Amino acid sequence: MKDFKRPKISVIGAGNVGATAAHLIALKDLADVALIDIAEGVPTGKALDILQSNSVEASSVRSVGGTDYGLVENSQIVIITAGIPRKPGMSRDDLLKTNADIVQSVTQQVAKKAPDSILIVVSNPLDAMCQVALKASGFPKERVMGMAGVLDTARYRAFLAEEIGVSPEDIQALLLGGHGDTMVPLPRYTSLQGIPISQFVNEKRLNEIVERAKAGGAEIVGYLKTGSAFYAPAAAAVEMAEAILKDQKKLRPVSAYLEGEFGYKGVYLGVPVILGAKGVEKIVEVDLDEKEKALLKNSYEAVKSLTEVLGL
Ligand code: APR
Repeated sequence: MKDFKRPKISVIGAGNVGATAAHLIALKDLADVALIDIAEGVPTGKALDILQSNSVEASSVRSVGGTDYGLVENSQIVIITAGIPRKPGMSRDDLLKTNADIVQSVTQQVAKKAPDSILIVVSNPLDAMCQVALKASGFPKERVMGMAGVLDTARYRAFLAEEIGVSPEDIQALLLGGHGDTMVPLPRYTSLQGIPISQFVNEKRLNEIVERAKAGGAEIVGYLKTGSAFYAPAAAAVEMAEAILKDQKKLRPVSAYLEGEFGYKGVYLGVPVILGAKGVEKIVEVDLDEKEKALLKNSYEAVKSLTEVLGL
C-alpha cells in the first residue's frame, strides 16, 4: 500500500459494522482500507473478498486486513468498531467495561502507528467509549469523535420519510445528547426541504416517531437476536469519514468533547458540529428551550454516570 499516494482509512474490528464500513468505503472509491481484528484470519479474508469485489464495482480501492497494527500506518482516519455488540435485553450500557478495555487497548495501538489520524469511535456505549479513546490516544479533542447522531437522525429521517411519503434525503433533522434512550430530539429543527415538519406530521405522530427512533437500535437487536444493527451504523460512520477526508464542512450531529458548549464540560455528548479536514472543526451551539435543556441535562447525567464508573 505504501506506493500508493491515496487517502487511507483503517477500520478496527472486522465484524458486522467494521466489514460493512470497509465495503462501503470501497464501493464509494473513497480511500484505501486496512481492516484490523483480533480474530486471526477474519480481517485478512474479508479484506481480500472486498478487494476482489472491486473488479466488479469499478473501484480502485486497495484493501488489506490482518491482526498487525502496522497496517494502520499512514491512515488519515481510523474507525473504531472493535467490541462486543448487544444481545436482546441488553442496553448499550451493559457493554461498558468489556468494551472500555477493548477500546482502550486498540486506541493505544492505533495512536502509536497513526499519530496524526482522526478517530471515529463506533463501539458502544458510544459517548463513554469516546472518552476512553480520547484518554488512551492522547490526541486533541478535535481528532476524537463518535458516531451516534448521524445514525440516530438517519433512523428518525427514515421513519419520517416513510410516514410522509418522501425521500429520506429531503428530511433535515437534528438530535442532541447521548446515543440511546436519553437522546434529545429537536422537532423544531426538523424540516422537509426547509418546510417545518409540523406541516406534515401532527405532534402525537411525531412523538411516536421520535420514540421509535430512540429505540431504533433495540428494535433491530430484537429481530437479529445475535447481534446489533450494522448497515446504518456503518453508513453513518463512512459519511463522517468522507466529510473529513474531503474537507466537506458538513454540519452533522456528532459525539464531541464539550468544554463549556451547551453548558457542559469534560464530557462527550451528541452536538451539531462542522466536520472537515481537521475533524471536529466547530461545535455549533443552537438555542434550546427549557424542555430541551432538561432533556440534555438528563442525557449528560446518563453519560457522566458511565464515565464515573470507568474513573474518567
Ligand atoms: N481488537 C480488535 N478487534 C476486536 C477486539 C480487539 N481487542 N475485541 C473484539 N474485536 C472484534 C471482534 O473480533 C469482532 O470481529 O470486534 C468485532 C466486533 O464485531 P461484531 O461482533 O460483529 O460487532 P458489531 O456489530 O460490528 O459491533 C461492534 O459497534 O455498534 C457498535 O454496539 C456495537 O460495540 C459494538 C460495535
